[in-house]
Amino acid sequence: MSNKKNIILLGPPGAGKGTQAVKIAEKYNIPQISTGDILRRAAAAGTNLGKEAKKFMDRGDLVPDEVVVGLVDERLMDTDCKDGYILDGFPRTVEQAKALDLILDEKGDGITYVVSIDVDEDELIERLTGRRTCRKCGKMYHVAFEPPKSEGKCDKCDGELYQRDDDKKETITARLRVYNEKTEPLIEYFSKKGLKRSVHGSGGIDEIFSKITEVLEES
Ligand code: AP5
Ligand code: MG
Ligand code: ZN
Repeated sequence: MSNKKNIILLGPPGAGKGTQAVKIAEKYNIPQISTGDILRRAAAAGTNLGKEAKKFMDRGDLVPDEVVVGLVDERLMDTDCKDGYILDGFPRTVEQAKALDLILDEKGDGITYVVSIDVDEDELIERLTGRRTCRKCGKMYHVAFEPPKSEGKCDKCDGELYQRDDDKKETITARLRVYNEKTEPLIEYFSKKGLKRSVHGSGGIDEIFSKITEVLEES
């Protein structure tokens, strides 16, 4: 297997994909590609795509495959992706995984690591209900586990912290159901390809990060 870091982070809502992706991106100097972040930015900018996507996101549903696949296809063409990348929240359906295979095949490229982060459902709910995000720089916090130094304000840029629209209790339940139905089958999909590695995702953020880097140092 090549040592190139073309990484997929797999895991349920709240598993810590975004938290860990930022740290991996920094360590290996590769971009984090979060489809959720791309869609939220489009929604905040009020583009047609963003407005359409927000309807699905606010229900906890997945945005249609062709929309997300198109976004990722475009993003992977950027030059900063040539030495590796971390896909955070994509693929999320078997159809998306197959589409990604085709996109990468055409470039003569392929995924080299799939890291699945496993966390119990009770803990996921606790993490999601307490999550806060900086409106300006996107840094993530948790009211109990990763609190900002001053309430409601980002440590890094002083930006306002907000709660994601889809982090309401009922939407979280819907997102977890959708994950179990549509995304969990991907674990089997990547296992069959011999790519999947699992990391237990409860414990401290740094502890989980070191388990992930161990996996990424295996060749
Ligand atoms: P997306 O933005 O991808 O959300 P998600 O998968 O539901 O995952 P989250 O971002 O909620 O959780 P995370 O795993 O990143 O955890 P985090 O690090 O933030 O997708 C949102 C929506 O967009 C979807 O529902 C869908 O509609 C649409 N979408 C996106 N991609 C799509 C696709 N490919 N296809 C179709 N639709 C798509 O951590 C959570 C909290 O826990 C934080 O507060 C953090 O500080 C805290 N925390 C993290 N690690 C720890 C730890 N070890 N201990 C204690 N607290 C921790
Ligand atoms: Mg995330
Ligand atoms: Zn900030």
